[in-house]
Amino acid sequence: MKDYVTANKKWWNDVTSIHLHSKLYDLPGFKKGKSSLVPIEQEEVGTVRGKSLLHLMCHFGMDTLSWARLGAIATGVDLSDDSIKIAKKLSKEINVPAKFICSDIYKLPDVLDKKFDIIFTSYGVLCWLSNIKKWAKIINQYLKVGGMFYIVELHPFTNVLSFDFKIHYKYFKKGPDIDDSSGTYADWGADIKGSTYLWSYAISDVINALIYEGLKIEYVHEFPFTTYDQFPGLMEQNEKGQYVLKNKKIQIPLLFSLKATK
Ligand SMILES: C[S@@+](CC[C@H](N)C(=O)[O-])C[C@H]1O[C@@H](n2cnc3c(N)ncnc32)[C@H](O)[C@@H]1O
Repeated sequence: MKDYVTANKKWWNDVTSIHLHSKLYDLPGFKKGKSSLVPIEQEEVGTVRGKSLLHLMCHFGMDTLSWARLGAIATGVDLSDDSIKIAKKLSKEINVPAKFICSDIYKLPDVLDKKFDIIFTSYGVLCWLSNIKKWAKIINQYLKVGGMFYIVELHPFTNVLSFDFKIHYKYFKKGPDIDDSSGTYADWGADIKGSTYLWSYAISDVINALIYEGLKIEYVHEFPFTTYDQFPGLMEQNEKGQYVLKNKKIQIPLLFSLKATK
């Protein structure tokens, strides 16, 4: 069987330095104190002061550190060792404490034995999961009784669309797909090419995996805007900085959020 994890880890290590210097991530702004969190998750997660927060798939830690700036006792986990090295460095540089762990999400029980008040994950995470049921099991394992799991993510419906907005891919499918396109979502023109392995889940797969673990779904919200230029040339930024489709006749969900409690 192909070693998906090694291939995906290599790609994430390769893109980390590109993301670090990208306009999308705005590292200089973050270092000056700007939060990398957007209003949806800040409003929906609510107050985090004094709460333990596990951030799954944290990349180089800007969101983890943004939660820590708001008073969370934060732990970030990511597969990419380059990302985690940078996250640790950033934490020291801005003097905001947080713990960072480099691990495949499915191997986390080998290196972390603790429960959390909040588990958070966001924007571009589901497609890297080889097993959605195992993912929900990990979430359940790390959540305290009375704790909250929260995800805000690209809506799975958008997975059926090609860059030129044609219905091109299956909504219902068994992964993985190989992606060997060039560039990254933070810089489509970046000189980066590599094979990654991606999975796609229906929204019901996500909800049912959490229900199967016994978690209570508090809500699922859908939004007609997103956080990045998902369909280059077809999107524009509104006055709030959100990316929306230029063609106002098209109204489709671009993001969803879900809160579950234990
Ligand atoms: C799109 S990014 C995270 C999104 C985050 N909101 C951000 O923009 O910084 C996806 C992250 O998932 C991580 N990742 C991919 N596969 C993983 C796995 N099997 N276990 C843990 N992390 C993984 C990647 O290294 C990457 O940092």
